[in-house]
Amino acid sequence: MTLDKKHSINNILEENRLFPPSKEFSDKSNIKSFEELQSLKKQSLENPTKFWESFANSEIDWFEPFQTVLDRENAPFFKWFKEGKLNITYNCLDRHIKNGIGNKTALVWEGEPGDNKKYTYQELLKEVCKASNALKSLGIKKGDLVCIYMPMIPEAMVAMLACARIGAPHSVVFGGFSSESLKDRLIDGNARFVITADGGFRKDKVIELKKAVDAAIESGANKIVEKVIVVQRTKKDISMVNNRDFWWHELLKDQKDWCEPEIMNSEDRLFVLYTSGSTGKPKGVVHTTAGYNLWSHLTFKWIFDIKDDDVYWCTADVGWITGHSYIVYGPLSNGATTLMFEGVPRASNLGAFWEIIQKYKVTIFYTAPTAIRSFMKSGREIPDQYDLRSLRLLGTVGEPINPEAWMWYREVIGDNKCPIVDTWWQTETGGVMISPLPGAVATKPGSATFSLPGIEVEVVDKNGEKVVENEGGYLVVKKPWPGMMRTIHENSQRYLESYWEYISFKGEKNVYFAGDGARIDNDGYIWIMGRVDDVISVSGHRLGTMEIESALVSHKSVAEAAVVGRKDDLKGEAIVAFVSLEKDINSFPEIVEELKKHVVNEIGIIAKPEKIIISDSLPKTRSGKIMRRILRSLAEGEKISGDISTLEDSSVLEKLKEIS
Ligand code: WTA
Repeated sequence: MTLDKKHSINNILEENRLFPPSKEFSDKSNIKSFEELQSLKKQSLENPTKFWESFANSEIDWFEPFQTVLDRENAPFFKWFKEGKLNITYNCLDRHIKNGIGNKTALVWEGEPGDNKKYTYQELLKEVCKASNALKSLGIKKGDLVCIYMPMIPEAMVAMLACARIGAPHSVVFGGFSSESLKDRLIDGNARFVITADGGFRKDKVIELKKAVDAAIESGANKIVEKVIVVQRTKKDISMVNNRDFWWHELLKDQKDWCEPEIMNSEDRLFVLYTSGSTGKPKGVVHTTAGYNLWSHLTFKWIFDIKDDDVYWCTADVGWITGHSYIVYGPLSNGATTLMFEGVPRASNLGAFWEIIQKYKVTIFYTAPTAIRSFMKSGREIPDQYDLRSLRLLGTVGEPINPEAWMWYREVIGDNKCPIVDTWWQTETGGVMISPLPGAVATKPGSATFSLPGIEVEVVDKNGEKVVENEGGYLVVKKPWPGMMRTIHENSQRYLESYWEYISFKGEKNVYFAGDGARIDNDGYIWIMGRVDDVISVSGHRLGTMEIESALVSHKSVAEAAVVGRKDDLKGEAIVAFVSLEKDINSFPEIVEELKKHVVNEIGIIAKPEKIIISDSLPKTRSGKIMRRILRSLAEGEKISGDISTLEDSSVLEKLKEIS
């Protein structure tokens, strides 16, 4: 990891504009002032046990109460609310019906072709119960990992909740991943059951999900996967294997619409979600029931300042953590109305998002900086055609937002009146960690501002020493929190090494290292500087450079590959691959296209390299390590600076300069 090389503080604009929330907004907020926020923070620092205990009791319904708030015995394998018993679907569904809001809309869904559906809390519960009974009828039981590989249709949400209701942890795999990626996740998770669809609609195309499931099974997951449930979405022809594949609608048809929620222990697994790290293999991040329920609930309530009549829309996919926490669990646990959209803006409908906001009178809108930058590029004439006056709060997530995009979002979409919450967090953290609370914090464009109550963060150097103001360093979390990941599936060693042992702290133990660089300015505002490891973010999608390298090297013509990220105005980062070919391969330039296609097949379209540079050899140190720093500079078109004396063969560099 090279903090100072990849990210210099000078990269970050000095940004001094300050946007306090309007008095009108603050007066109506759940947390109304900076003082109120500070007082909550103070309580959390002075007595964390009491702080978490009181929220766990006030926000979550328990079948049996917990006795221990936090068990540190086997830290950093922390346990939260140990003896408690609950079911997250009870908190997301049943309790709202008991509290008299069963007829409130829980889910508004809009399909890409324009079809749509609404579910009240009562209707959603019935559907989830039917699905739960259907899963049970196939022999799925508590503890069985179920893979969900779906388009953005209501059944994806129903499937997740049905798994949670019967205590079967889910492993949702983003529908944009290829069959190869799906296979790896099926095998790693030992998932005997898959819920999928015949396909989905995206960008006016049909995504053939069932075909990808078939391919994943045929190419290696055949010994693992026993049953596949298929939702009918596109009605295109697919093949169904007898006794292995079942139609969702046929399975659900005669099921009872009541299913008793399974009584879960606080620390029972709720889900596994794969994410990229700095080594080749994706990590299965494990989240458990109670802590995740509390953290997704509480952060949603605080950050989105939710009110009874809000229509909330997060544009993420349920295949990512943002979809888990802020389309499904956080909103439903709060009894909110959550909107789900199958498609994305596309050439045939650039105004798709604004049309939905207008149609459903969306009040809170949560999206990614990449999306905002692409809206900027296509011009304000498009959103200006729609009535966006219902909006009262805007959010961003997934990557740093440049002040220019932030200002555009504020002015053009938010009409200068909606506060913006820039939320920093990760798959591993379960919920947001750093964000303004909209009624309490004056925002600065591009800063995620302050950590939330209960979350103590610091910026430190490699030795764990706090850095001075404005100095860049490693972002760490100093105290455990309920929504934290519990481990990496089947790899507790990697959990320790990746997150808890990288920075050597003097005296202090159990400090979580997030993998991001940050700096804190004179006013205490936190500025996220991006990843400091070999993880890149392409259009907000998190990808490991090693993952892409492994995909390239798996091609028969490739001898070696090194992948780096290059700054991109639209996507945040773009993928540049340096590749040396096996001897006797000289089908250039066809090979470049072939390799791009190969990466798409191996991982998915999100990992397609923007540029592949073929070279006889790659710059290496005498000990054989590829010097990525040099490749990064080459990819950026920058002058090579710093020490190159460790280069084994400096003529490689000269050649690369010519062709890059
Ligand atoms: C990045 C997505 C800057 C960061 C929720 C983190 C951000 C990674 C922000 C996690 C933000 C997320 N500002 N960077 N507001 N939010 N990131 O696991 O590098 O897909 O480590 O979770 O996204 O990505 P993940």
